[in-house]
Amino acid sequence: MEPVKVGLLGLGTVGGGTINLLQENAEEIMRRAGRGIEVIHACARDLNKPRICDTEGISLSTDPNEVVDNPDVDVILELIGGEGMARDVMLRAIENGKHIVTANKALIAKHGNEIFAAAEARGVIVAFEAAVAGGIPIIKGLREGLAANRIEWLAGIINGTGNFILTEMRDEDRDFADVLAEAQRLGYAEADPTFDVEGIDAAHKLAIMASIAFGMPLKFDRVYTEGITHVTRDDVTFAEELGYRIKHLGIARRTWNGIELRVHPTLIPERQLIANVDGVMNAVVVKGNMVGPTLYYGAGAGAEPTASAVVADLIDVVRALSCAPESRVPHLGVHPHALADESILAM
Ligand code: HSE
Repeated sequence: MEPVKVGLLGLGTVGGGTINLLQENAEEIMRRAGRGIEVIHACARDLNKPRICDTEGISLSTDPNEVVDNPDVDVILELIGGEGMARDVMLRAIENGKHIVTANKALIAKHGNEIFAAAEARGVIVAFEAAVAGGIPIIKGLREGLAANRIEWLAGIINGTGNFILTEMRDEDRDFADVLAEAQRLGYAEADPTFDVEGIDAAHKLAIMASIAFGMPLKFDRVYTEGITHVTRDDVTFAEELGYRIKHLGIARRTWNGIELRVHPTLIPERQLIANVDGVMNAVVVKGNMVGPTLYYGAGAGAEPTASAVVADLIDVVRALSCAPESRVPHLGVHPHALADESILAM
């Protein structure tokens, strides 16, 4: 069978990591997907920039529209980030009948309702595991593993950069700005790192998880959002002396009158598992009414962990391509109108 042809938007940390992963694990991927996967066209703003991957044999463009208009491309990997241009490109790709895998949490959190409706109308798949918690399969966990449960609440450390900063401030007594600069160098931080430290990135991810957990539309604008910029080294030290850790959490909870959504720094007793999740690691606890609490843990940012989630989605899409179109899940997980708008608490 012909390999599935992929168009890749973005050759940065995640795009480069994805090309490397597809090469290195080609045998396992072939076995699990049941078909070869070939990246045939990619785009990047600056084609002369040094890359972490080898792009030999891949057609290169600076215009993402050339990739989404390429008639030979079956699946688009959208790894450019941002929401303006990415939204337009994504809608154009859907219109062109391409299936999509994206790591773009801002785009899904803010425009997901529109994107999923367009995908459903066109009969294409939009998959977004890599948008939340890097390499942790939390979207699949919520959508598949816990599908039999009524979710009561979920809470997690869902920004690797913020957790790395809080950990280094505690363990190494380092300065906030200095650690943030290192997170940027390591490729953990967003293009605009205020998204990481002001809680916006975590709010994007919380809105996405909540939509799947509670079967509701994406409601990023209802998330109470507070970051870590006002947390000082003294706060971290005093918390430690009192037997607590400061962690930035995203929390979504079913309450008697609706769903509560919030992200903010939290004091957690140090004996709790989640208090000991350090560095760039993420962890999410999900409480289902049948299974009880479950814990998902792993690297929340970085080239390889995020590429792991991108390629897992790509394998899902390739498997779905061998099913009849009418039996495919048009988008993997959000049920936009299952829960009334009024049921989401304004915070
Ligand atoms: N900037 C994000 C983080 C990247 O630090 O968690 C992964 O979403």
